[in-house]
Amino acid sequence: MIDVILGLQWGDEGKGKIVDYLANNYDIVARFQGGPNAGHTLKFDGKKYVLHTVPSGIFRPKLINLIGNGVVIDPTTLKKEIDGLIAADVDFQGRLLVSKKAHLILPTHSLLDAASEASKGKEKIGSTLKGIGPTYMDKTGRNGLRVGDILSPNFRAKYEKLRDKHLNLAKLYPWVEFDLSAREKAWFESIETLRSLELVDGEYYINQAMKAGKRVLAEGAQGSMLDIDFGTYPFVTSSNTISAGVCNGLGVAPQKIGEVIGITKAYCTRVGGGPFPTELSGEVGEKLRKIGMEFGATTGRPRRCGWIDIPALNYTIMLNGVTQLVVTKVDVLDEFETVCVGTHYRYDGEEHDSIPFDMADKKVDTVYKEYEGWNQTLAPFTEYEQLPTRVKKYITELESLLNVPVTMVSTGPERKKLILKPIGVPVG
Ligand code: GDP
Ligand code: IMO
Ligand code: MG
Repeated sequence: MIDVILGLQWGDEGKGKIVDYLANNYDIVARFQGGPNAGHTLKFDGKKYVLHTVPSGIFRPKLINLIGNGVVIDPTTLKKEIDGLIAADVDFQGRLLVSKKAHLILPTHSLLDAASEASKGKEKIGSTLKGIGPTYMDKTGRNGLRVGDILSPNFRAKYEKLRDKHLNLAKLYPWVEFDLSAREKAWFESIETLRSLELVDGEYYINQAMKAGKRVLAEGAQGSMLDIDFGTYPFVTSSNTISAGVCNGLGVAPQKIGEVIGITKAYCTRVGGGPFPTELSGEVGEKLRKIGMEFGATTGRPRRCGWIDIPALNYTIMLNGVTQLVVTKVDVLDEFETVCVGTHYRYDGEEHDSIPFDMADKKVDTVYKEYEGWNQTLAPFTEYEQLPTRVKKYITELESLLNVPVTMVSTGPERKKLILKPIGVPVG
């Protein structure tokens, strides 16, 4: 069986931390979509690591980490991550596998990403500019280069053909600063690092492993509200971030999926453009950003902050078939007198529980319910029963609004700051 961990909001829910925590229960951790737009933060033994392409099980000895076919890989970023692993003395030899069917991000994909964003002006998506959109466009347009192509004697020619096509396309856009020859040099050096990893037929690998009884954990990137089909289009990423993406991003059949563990912050953030109905633009939002240290792990941009959004969570729980919830960053609310929950949307003159089709164009207001804050630090607590009654009340409220049990509560960035919640624990 394969269990799945994924983000239910607009990304950065704390997936890296939770995958790292749970990884010891598994034999394989596999990324199934996204690419270096992801930034997954892990903290343990006083050190912090940010992973973009490498799965978050890499720090657990012996565990296999697979970069699946649904991922798009920038070899330059991957090489930097590998250099970081070497510096941290992590033995990844034979443990970091890459699907030959994963697509490659070329330097000119990043150029097209930047050029496309520049052409949009105020309407820009707020992309991480890592070349994600243009690479998935080449994949579905059937022009892409895949990891397995680096083994071909014609690789250079294939590369140049695609690069030249991109350079022609770039003429349609405003000019953006881009040092192609420096980027190409670094890219080809990084291809050699990629070549040194184990390149596999990921779909056979994972199915054979599951048949042999190995336990697999699929690690999502981004969040369900950034899904290409169901997110706040066009302010989304270019892959299927929901659990369905596990099937085509790894080559596993739907009935193989076991637990779907959905992660939500105790509040909500989004980085980049697009609708965000529960956004707090004033002092309260600023306080969340400051205490939560809400700055992008990939780009360093300040994240937009707001209250937790129940209609959006119910939507993404439905799409993913979530079987259990993890609530992260609960400690960030420690110093709030009141904590709000966005329970409904109001649009077209009425209250709604559902997401409107044209969320990006429509004015959507939110109806809130207020709760008393707990106004104390959660730092000393390690057991669910010990938590202040108001925290437990907040968690129980979320469970009843979302109809899924919360099984884990995260109270700090460090690996150990995770409280397991027995299902059905009463309030108080
Ligand atoms: P990901 O993309 O979902 O893996 O999340 P990011 O790593 O981009 O962002 C989550 C941020 O919150 C990181 O800086 C984590 O170290 C931090 N974090 C994770 N869980 C907690 C938590 O429970 N409390 C606090 N205060 N920080 C957390
Ligand atoms: P993790 O895995 C938060 C956002 C970008 C932008 C939109 C499109 O760390 O949760 P793209 O680079 O994909 O063209 O950007 O999606 N975005 C993320 N936001 N966390 C992420 O990943 C994100 N990956 C992309 O900010 O709004
Ligand atoms: Mg992140």
